[in-house]
Amino acid sequence: MYRSPKAQGLIPYASLILLLSPLSLADVGTGAYYNPPYLPTECYGTDTSQFPANNLFAAAGEGIWDNGASCGREYLVRCLSAAAPNACIDGQTIQVMIVDYVDGLNSSPSQNGTTMILSSNAFAMIADQSAAEINIEFQQV
Ligand SMILES: *[C@@H]1O[C@H](CO)[C@@H](O)[C@H](O)[C@H]1NC(C)=O
Repeated sequence: MYRSPKAQGLIPYASLILLLSPLSLADVGTGAYYNPPYLPTECYGTDTSQFPANNLFAAAGEGIWDNGASCGREYLVRCLSAAAPNACIDGQTIQVMIVDYVDGLNSSPSQNGTTMILSSNAFAMIADQSAAEINIEFQQV
């Protein structure tokens, strides 16, 4: 029997929005951080002019690298939770640009295998750096 796409999609979509509010179409993943020296190696080589002016950037983990298509993408990111208690800074959302791939980093990430590796400045805006890994909600801008 035919059911209209609208009727089928309505209830699951509405409950998703409630769950993920305020980033209504966001994904959930994990985040770590890395320290200088910073180069945008896998995206832009040694061209440091590619870093965003506000210096809020990140390297893509395996899950969002997208074969390099993620270079230059911007994401809204917030901290959801962490193993370390009270590590998230409540109510803080940052916008970061992807400038590298995890394999290109000059310094080892605070945790391996995360969705996104934030610059230490970006990480510090949403969480305490005593946490090596945080659970994040992120949405492409
Ligand atoms: C991540 O993996 C590298 C290479 O295996 C290892 O040297 C490093 O200690 C690991 N980092 C963490 C935080 O486990």
